[in-house]
Amino acid sequence: METTLINRVALVTGAGSGIGQAAALAFARAGARVVVADINPAGGEETVRQITTAGGEALFVPTDVTQAGAVAALIQQTVAAYGRLDCAFNNAGIGGDAMPLAEGSEANWDNVINTNLKGVWLGMKYENQQFLAQGDGVAIVNCSSVGGQVGVLGYGPYAATKHGILGLTKTAALEYAAARIRVNTVCLGPINTPPYEPLFRAHPEFRTALLAQVPLGRLGEPAEAAAAAIWLCSDAASFITGAALPVDGGWLAQ
Ligand code: NAI
Repeated sequence: METTLINRVALVTGAGSGIGQAAALAFARAGARVVVADINPAGGEETVRQITTAGGEALFVPTDVTQAGAVAALIQQTVAAYGRLDCAFNNAGIGGDAMPLAEGSEANWDNVINTNLKGVWLGMKYENQQFLAQGDGVAIVNCSSVGGQVGVLGYGPYAATKHGILGLTKTAALEYAAARIRVNTVCLGPINTPPYEPLFRAHPEFRTALLAQVPLGRLGEPAEAAAAAIWLCSDAASFITGAALPVDGGWLAQ
């Protein structure tokens, strides 16, 4: 069984930064043509630049994953450019405000739920429509978190979305198994991406406390999170569907 993705067409949402950018680069290295979707044009264009500089093929499609019309257009543009879609990593997400539940705002709740949960649902909706129209399709991977399996102090809405992604993933895995479409989730522990930078700068003690919760004693790298998503998309994972794979340095083993 191969982890190669030669001749495959891969879509990554939130591919303008962090884990999504690392995943887009890794999909390209594995041989896929990559559609880079992000709400941030500068980040998306930079990812495409890095892929094409390395000899790969990629297309940036500006996309807000909270908008059904935008996600439908993303799939249409993917098919217009590359003829089909084989795998998707629904990665776009935000942490939202750090706030105890009783003090959180409605605006933060709506923003986090729409981006993390509605965004993943919309991605799967239109990706699966395309897979079914093609008569084939390989795999979807959704981006959850250790916060999809346990609570996250100060991030209630975030934890709710990441738990919700597991329910959506398992349901989609059952609904589309007969069509041979596999749907899985990665449950990421702390990964060294840009959102942490200002937090670590302002609160060095937060970094220490975070690392104390990781048995391997370090942050993960974006490429390590990306590798798991790409493996789940590849034929090497051909009998895996409905799974939630921890990529967390041992966090969830405690
Ligand atoms: P990041 O902030 O570096 O990248 C997220 C990307 O998503 C950004 O490029 C942003 O522009 C894009 N995005 C945000 N809202 C969007 C929208 N409405 N439509 C399209 N794109 C949008 O963050 P990071 O750390 O790479 O996170 C990626 C995913 O990994 C998220 O789902 C996050 O919840 C998840 N995750 C990250 C962990 C970490 O420690 N970094 C831990 C667990 C999960």
